[in-house]
Amino acid sequence: MSEAVRTMMRMDAEAAQETAAQADAGFLWDFWYPAAQSTEIRGQKLVTAMLLEVPLVLGRTSEGKVFAMRDSCPHRGIPLSYGRLDGKVVECCYHGWRFDACSGQCVEIPSLSSQDKLKVERIFAGHFPCEERDGYVWVYMSPGGRQAINSPGGRIAADNAPGTRMPETIPAAPALTVFSDKYKITHLSCELPSHIDHGIIGLMDPAHGPFVHQSWFWRKRGSIHEKAKQFEPIPNGFRMSPHSPSTNSAPYQLLKKITGEPVTTTIDFVLPNIRTEEDRSGKMWFSSRATVTPVRRDLCRIDFVAAWNLFFLPVWIFRIFGKIFLRQDQETMIQQAEGLKHNPRLMLIDDADRPAKWYFALKANLIESRRTGAPMVHPMDGPVTLRWRS
Ligand code: FES
Ligand SMILES: [Fe+2]
Repeated sequence: MSEAVRTMMRMDAEAAQETAAQADAGFLWDFWYPAAQSTEIRGQKLVTAMLLEVPLVLGRTSEGKVFAMRDSCPHRGIPLSYGRLDGKVVECCYHGWRFDACSGQCVEIPSLSSQDKLKVERIFAGHFPCEERDGYVWVYMSPGGRQAINSPGGRIAADNAPGTRMPETIPAAPALTVFSDKYKITHLSCELPSHIDHGIIGLMDPAHGPFVHQSWFWRKRGSIHEKAKQFEPIPNGFRMSPHSPSTNSAPYQLLKKITGEPVTTTIDFVLPNIRTEEDRSGKMWFSSRATVTPVRRDLCRIDFVAAWNLFFLPVWIFRIFGKIFLRQDQETMIQQAEGLKHNPRLMLIDDADRPAKWYFALKANLIESRRTGAPMVHPMDGPVTLRWRS
């Protein structure tokens, strides 16, 4: 067996190992994830990000189009982010190979002589579909992209360049719902030292409010009372049916006083990681989206965007309270991570943890339906009322 073949096989085995390890990380592939805020990607700057343990390099062409490549040169693996962008092409800092930023296609290998027969255009750097929405750069993370780039073919010959093929059909990137032409919008984010599953069940957990988020402006611990909320199944998720929000939350009470009309709130969760909330009262509205995105298996990030047309709520005030809120969640997750290091047994109880159970079931059923090709089974049969105290 030649040395070259042995090397290829070793790389194959490594790629297989990596694939197996990544399959165990509990990530959901073939979804859009926010990688960075739009404002971070400007000029000819190359910006790094990591999604689902895949290192990415992001940038913007001179035409303003954002792109996402795997942050690894297909020649010898040095991060492309050390190279430079000329507005259209990313040039590797090591041997100067040049790649079209949007397609990942190699356009030049400076070392080639006139005798060389290598088909440069058949070499691709790993790249991923990338779109801008609501002030975020979203990247569609498909395992095809990942494997492609890990494969020996991708690394050496790159002749068949599988990873460089885009998935056949991809849905549009998520967009925040807004209800008028003019509105304010703001973005907040924070990192959690947690596996994505803990990040997400923390996000949808109704019972931590009175303990973690007690404050004069939101609610007091003593205000805890019994609640009954109706939930219904929606594709890939569940909805807390439109209802009047908690009477122990001051902001909702204020909104009701100002408009003189009832406030209704609808909260959705959909896979892989999106919680949206829409509050409406007369012509006034507030719409928000929180996503919890896996960075690595031990790190995730909450990206929170909110838009509203409430004239009495300036962005800066909202940001002060929003940051306090996120900080409270973050501190709790830091403390939880301390406990989780020792692999404790955990429990989910009814009804307060039922949304968490649905999340796990949705995730498992989606993976199963993708494996078998059968339609996804929804864990809920129909509307159900959950009761808890918070
Ligand atoms: S490692 Fe990128 S050109 Fe050689
Ligand atoms: Fe919280």
